Amino acid sequence: MAAEIRNHIAVIDFGSQYTRLIVRRVREEGYFAMLYQPSELATIDEPAAVILSGGPKSTADEDAPDFDFEHLVGLKIPVLGVCYGMQLSNIKWGGEVAKSDHREFGPAEIHPESEGEFLFGGISPGTQIWMSHSDTVSKVPEGTKVLAKNQQGTPVALQWADNYFGIQFHPEVTHTEDDGIVLRNFLKLVPDAKPFGIESLRDEICTRIKEQLGDREVVCGVSGGVDSTVLAVLLQNAGINVRPIFVDTGLLRQDEAIDVQAGFEQLGIEIETIDASERFLTALAGEEDPEKKRVIIGNMFIDVFFEAAQDIDILGQGTLYPDVIESASAGSSASKIKTHHNRVDRILKLQKEGRVIEPLAEMFKDEVRALGRSLDIPAQLLNRHPFPGPGLAVRCPGEVREDRLRIIREADSVFIGELRSSGWYDRTWQAYACLIPVKTVGVKGDERSYEFAIGLRAVISEDAMTADWVELPPDLLRRVSTRILNEVSGVNRVLYDISSKPPASIEWE
Ligand code: XMP
Repeated sequence: MAAEIRNHIAVIDFGSQYTRLIVRRVREEGYFAMLYQPSELATIDEPAAVILSGGPKSTADEDAPDFDFEHLVGLKIPVLGVCYGMQLSNIKWGGEVAKSDHREFGPAEIHPESEGEFLFGGISPGTQIWMSHSDTVSKVPEGTKVLAKNQQGTPVALQWADNYFGIQFHPEVTHTEDDGIVLRNFLKLVPDAKPFGIESLRDEICTRIKEQLGDREVVCGVSGGVDSTVLAVLLQNAGINVRPIFVDTGLLRQDEAIDVQAGFEQLGIEIETIDASERFLTALAGEEDPEKKRVIIGNMFIDVFFEAAQDIDILGQGTLYPDVIESASAGSSASKIKTHHNRVDRILKLQKEGRVIEPLAEMFKDEVRALGRSLDIPAQLLNRHPFPGPGLAVRCPGEVREDRLRIIREADSVFIGELRSSGWYDRTWQAYACLIPVKTVGVKGDERSYEFAIGLRAVISEDAMTADWVELPPDLLRRVSTRILNEVSGVNRVLYDISSKPPASIEWE
């Protein structure tokens, strides 16, 4: 699909942890950007400009990533090399890079030279830039312009040709305090590049899938989560014959199945609910191992979904751009989580036959939320916390049993209800109650009790890769604890989880 997008900004990924941010920043500037592996460079259809990202390797490493320089120069389009992308470009133009074991990581100052007016116009000398590199450019080829230096007088921005620039620092991170000027100045070279805007993207996707599918039926799984909801509404909006299926795994939160059904009704979409709780709980009986529990749930989900769907003509999936990128870069733990449901054999087979559509595959999460807003999906639905595919099973350490799920549901409902009414729900990224299956002694009334504990977790995060616990106000925690101890039978202790990720994960299993 990406290859069909002409005249956009192509970002070549040399592996830096910040590469995705470049795509984000370019889109924030209003231009369409996509990420590519270096080997894909020649396959990109008429890009407007190319940005070469940073990366963890040294250009001197044997397995240093490379790209087709002749092809790139032959395109005669603006190029910006960032960090590794700059160093590699310097070598390609005939210069040298010195390997170093010492890493420069952190802030530096930028001092533009008079020749740097185009790229650094609007930037005051001494503005903070962010460095993260080991190697440095040791020799620039003849004819190269030095556009800016750091406070020590070392060149940090070069221009090798009319349209080919390189910068040693990372303009995409917020620690570079240039208010986005460097990137914006570079993009001035391509004022007619494909614009990026939610409404135009929405209309384009709708037209594209309607043309592609006509009246064919698209089956899609819905969970009540943001991505699958936006997908179903988008398809309906495109005039597609959509059939949403909701699998009740029995591992959902209090009243979730009813709420999801009601939410879709409000949106004017009829969903098919499959109550498979008994099948899931029977399959999970006796299993205590977290990963085996996940596998059982994942496989059962696919079985139930495909049984309900019968003969699928087209399958619609709410895969997002980060999932696409992560699935492409093997070995990432995130891709393992995400690919679990989206890339199993039966789905891969459909995909090979060209019968899977993933209309959100070019978008980041907050762009999907913006798309949802443009489709009039209520904010309460779009701002829902993430909920894991295996549901409450990963919040019920050890064996998953109905009596334990009841406790988790009731405690979670109290916690989330209090977060909502105190305004803290929208200030946390994810929050939940889990069961701690350890019985401890307490006193209830005049009687000794010997019951389970409840764990409360509330975190802030950007991308779930790291997370920090939220300092909820003590009076809120006290209210939640009192209510759980009074209202949820089988619990005599409430604990608040104050572990960051890493080392703890967000979920307990
Ligand atoms: P962890 O526990 O790995 O969670 O720190 C990170 C984010 O991923 C969610 N999560 C899952 N989502 N299937 C999913 O679809 C899973 O098996 C799974 N495990 C964790 C978790 O809720 C958090 O948002």
